Amino acid sequence: GKGIAVLTSGGDSQGMNGAVRAVVRMGLYVGANVFFIKEGYQGMVDGGDNIVEANWSSVSGIIHKGGTVIGSARCKAFRDREGRTKAAKNLVKRGITNLVVIGGDGSLTGANLFRQDWPALLQLLVKKGEITEEEQKTYSHLNIVGMVGSIDNDFCGTDMTIGTDSALHRIIEAVDAIASTAYSHQRCFILEVMGRHCGYLSVSACLACEADYMFIPESPPVHDWPDLLCQKLESERSMGQRLNIIIVAEGAIDQQDVPITAEGVKKVIVDKLGFDTRVTVLGHVQRGGSPSAFDRLLGCRMGAEAVLALMEATPETEPCVISLDGNQAVRVPLMGCVLKTQAVARALQDHRWDDAVQMRGRS
Ligand code: F6P
Repeated sequence: GKGIAVLTSGGDSQGMNGAVRAVVRMGLYVGANVFFIKEGYQGMVDGGDNIVEANWSSVSGIIHKGGTVIGSARCKAFRDREGRTKAAKNLVKRGITNLVVIGGDGSLTGANLFRQDWPALLQLLVKKGEITEEEQKTYSHLNIVGMVGSIDNDFCGTDMTIGTDSALHRIIEAVDAIASTAYSHQRCFILEVMGRHCGYLSVSACLACEADYMFIPESPPVHDWPDLLCQKLESERSMGQRLNIIIVAEGAIDQQDVPITAEGVKKVIVDKLGFDTRVTVLGHVQRGGSPSAFDRLLGCRMGAEAVLALMEATPETEPCVISLDGNQAVRVPLMGCVLKTQAVARALQDHRWDDAVQMRGRS
């Protein structure tokens, strides 16, 4: 059968295990030899025990676990030709020519570079005498398929990334817990929420928790935000509200690119209104814990589709990423999505905020 390997790369996210499980089980079902690559690209470069063959039971009892049981890493060695050459050798020696990469846009770009570089890497390995010409011929082409695992929902081309829904649940539980203590003491709470350069988690949490105010990178406030914020908080209090909840995305900035931090917002409120104010930074709690039903199912569906895509791939097939589109797991061009995602990042940097939001589309 075909040799398929699965790895998780970059920051972990809830639901990655469901995806890994689906790749293994669907792979075995269609008659492939399936391998885990542990510790992301680092494991691919290092080889040895990091690349192990999987069987049906090796993915039992993992779907409910957070994180990724096969480990993840942000790997430097894979960025160099030398690292990629070692990785290629490790795959060839195990008969692996199909890769499922679960990670963010950086990890998927890396996979595509590897795919493009593959024939040259094999040529180099033949020259060095590390693989035979026969092996070079047999394993001449590398197929890749991507899946996006990220709590940030920051990838263009999919409605949801694996992990976002669980992170949102975690945030909402935390905000609800904070709200009850805030209510008792008539306090104002500022919560810092993750999401790197994407405000999806903040916006969704804000709507779902009746927050009074929020700051996100896609909609930096004008310079007089302290006054507007305080007016809003005061008006809520004057209508009988006993508490205030403010959500600050970790990447929030103002229109001059000055970061807006939870502590900075607290200072404004204390100085101008004298409200009893506290800050809670949710941090990695958002990325931990068991995945929601949605993320488990999303991982399953995407994982299964990823294997089907690999089974049908030919050297002419453009690499794809599995995306969720209108509740269907579908294949979309990998590099098209990566380039669009990078264009969004550039638009944010260049203060073209509306363009960035437009380009992100439904996600
Ligand atoms: O991309 C996922 C994410 O959790 C972001 O929300 C956050 O900015 C970043 O990763 C944190 O990275 P690290 O785990 O390296 O601290």
